Amino acid sequence: MPEAKKSPVAKSTATLTFDNKSVELPIYSPSAGPDVIDIRKLYAQGDVFTYDPGFTSTASCESTITFIDGDKGELLYRGYPIDQLAEQSSYIEVCYLLLYGELPSAKQMSEFRQRVTRHTMVHEQMHYFFRGFRRDAHPMATMVGVVGAMSAFYHDSLDITDEWQREVAAIRMIAKMPTIAAMAYKYAIGQPFVYPRNDLDYAANFLHMCFSVPAEPYEVNPILSKAMDRIFTLHADHEQNASTSTVRLAGSSGANPFACIAAGIACLWGPAHGGANQACLEMLREIGTVDRIPEFIARAKDKNDPFRLMGFGHRVYKNFDPRAKVMKESADEVLDLLGIHDNETLKVAKELERIALEDEYFVEKKLYPNVDFYSGIILEAMGFPTSMFTPIFALSRTVGWISQWKEMIADEAQKIGRPRQLYVGATKRDYVNISKR
Ligand code: CMC
Repeated sequence: MPEAKKSPVAKSTATLTFDNKSVELPIYSPSAGPDVIDIRKLYAQGDVFTYDPGFTSTASCESTITFIDGDKGELLYRGYPIDQLAEQSSYIEVCYLLLYGELPSAKQMSEFRQRVTRHTMVHEQMHYFFRGFRRDAHPMATMVGVVGAMSAFYHDSLDITDEWQREVAAIRMIAKMPTIAAMAYKYAIGQPFVYPRNDLDYAANFLHMCFSVPAEPYEVNPILSKAMDRIFTLHADHEQNASTSTVRLAGSSGANPFACIAAGIACLWGPAHGGANQACLEMLREIGTVDRIPEFIARAKDKNDPFRLMGFGHRVYKNFDPRAKVMKESADEVLDLLGIHDNETLKVAKELERIALEDEYFVEKKLYPNVDFYSGIILEAMGFPTSMFTPIFALSRTVGWISQWKEMIADEAQKIGRPRQLYVGATKRDYVNISKR
């Protein structure tokens, strides 16, 4: 179990002076990363708000789960570097680590694996729920609806004040998300749903549910399941990103965990966040050939063109996204092992990366490839359509969302999230009857 969280102790104070007022604000030192100024008493003592749209300078909570050093390009889950975990661990072990704070012993691992696999099926009634969607619905639309609907099926894990129920909800979600994502896919392509197989590991079972059909046997390719597992690991958590903050904000009102994760999935869908993997592959395909790259680089730099290089740039990383490094190696490995040579999309991606990394605009703004830049190439080689890329991100991130949600519920400092605003609208005025306007 993780070390009990200690209340922060102020190492010093900052004094904010304005309008003949002066407010003392405690400063805390984190275990890693920049110091944090505690402004919680600022409004009560100074009658002012802070203003930070996009939360570029705001820490919204205390957390012990994930740490990012954006300048160094470092990502740690519970202190362990992402490249070590991607290389030496497995997604299911990473789930344990994120949820409980430490790497499991062999016995803990086997019990945890057993617990997760025993929850992989979804309530049979949920099959009918899927059938209510149009076949051409985006699988993310289906997932938002179905995951939200889980609160209508699993009434025995909705009481957020009961630690055991919170635990059951966490295991259920980690176990069922691959089943739900695979069902959304099968439904979209008009094939029958495939039940999970608990003799397969987490990633292999997902591939089985996506690619097998009842009419013939399906052997999961171990190379592909290893690559799939690595993709899950690389996406498992990323501290207080937009979807995780959405999950925490939804949860701060006391909403049930299934509703909170559905909110996270909805937020992840956007192209600036998890939707970038689909958008990136579509962009690479649109570029098509290496000779067209300069045209797209020029568009990305043009202030009057809304086009951005998808899979490039990050709010926190001002250096290489460490996940992209692993993903790039993985893309080479998977295409090689599958015997896919001369992949035009990979060629375009590599050349685009090379040109962008030498271009003054991208260098100056510190825009590097992010996790979404190479993941689509691997997923496409595995046989997934682009519409499944973001659902795969969502299923991988579920453990991060649920770990952060559990941490928030157990945090005594937790309050309902309720930002204020810089109001610039009309001041008080009297209603005018329509005949006089
Ligand atoms: N292509 C071209 N210019 C860019 C890009 C890009 N991909 N990203 C940022 N810029 C420019 C931007 O125009 C701005 O320029 P200026 O200062 O002249 O106005 C500057 O760089 C800073 O950008 P920003 O939008 O203020 O930065 P942000 O931290 O708010 O946005 C981002 C981060 C990831 C949303 C953005 O880089 C982006 O839109 N990237 C493309 C989408 C993408 O790949 N998203 C996946 C992120 S990683 C996985 C995940 O989170 O799910």
